[in-house]
Amino acid sequence: VTRGDLKYQGKAKQVYLTNNSEILWVHYMDQATALNGKVHEDIPEKGRLNSAISHILFQYLTRHGIENHYLTAISETDELDLALDIIPIEVVTRNYASGHFVSKFDATSMQKLNPIVQEFYYKSDALDDPFMNDSQILALGYATEIELEKLRNYAQKVNQLLKSLFDEIKINLIDFKLEFGKNALGELILADELSPDNMRLVDQKTGKSLDKDVFRQHSGDVTIGYRDVLSRLENLEK
Ligand code: C5P
Repeated sequence: VTRGDLKYQGKAKQVYLTNNSEILWVHYMDQATALNGKVHEDIPEKGRLNSAISHILFQYLTRHGIENHYLTAISETDELDLALDIIPIEVVTRNYASGHFVSKFDATSMQKLNPIVQEFYYKSDALDDPFMNDSQILALGYATEIELEKLRNYAQKVNQLLKSLFDEIKINLIDFKLEFGKNALGELILADELSPDNMRLVDQKTGKSLDKDVFRQHSGDVTIGYRDVLSRLENLEK
């Protein structure tokens, strides 16, 4: 596969076309953004760390029967993914209260959520990814009832699997965001990345954030936590 034109520049990734229309070339950048891109910073090594963490997590999900877009790594920062038609719905799952769930609803930070919370957001940088309920999604045709059910089931399975994996390395999975796309047959497939940019991870022993909250809150070097997560995942794989 050879790399072609830049298709899309995201906040922390560049997506290129390839000579195969079914495959995309994704490059993880050494960049972090907060407040939907309003705050930007170069963070050396972040691309490599996110890419490596994402590979391990996608491969783990694949082994457990969760179909996803990840095909193969081609360097420390680049991978090949299935080309999908991304749907404009972000699916957030919350096991514990944090972030916007705390600021919006007066929840106690880190209170355990029962039942687990699932939320949909409309994927739009211009609109700051607003919350969307089922009927809003249906009325605007962003998904059908059957597809929404699939998204919910997908997110629930991914949550169970990731939660138990992180539990093995003494990390609590607080919340995370998933994105999906459709293949040529119109089937929904898990896409995007699975990294501490998209999930909150907290050390069970120290209560420390090992995710992008460190960057959002300017509370230190964000890559320390990412490196910790990666080395625990790598040790588990050995
Ligand atoms: O900000 P909020 O509390 O709603 O975020 C919930 C989870 O979803 C966090 O893990 C966050 O990193 C992730 N998220 C994301 N992209 C967004 C919004 C949230 O990855 N656009």
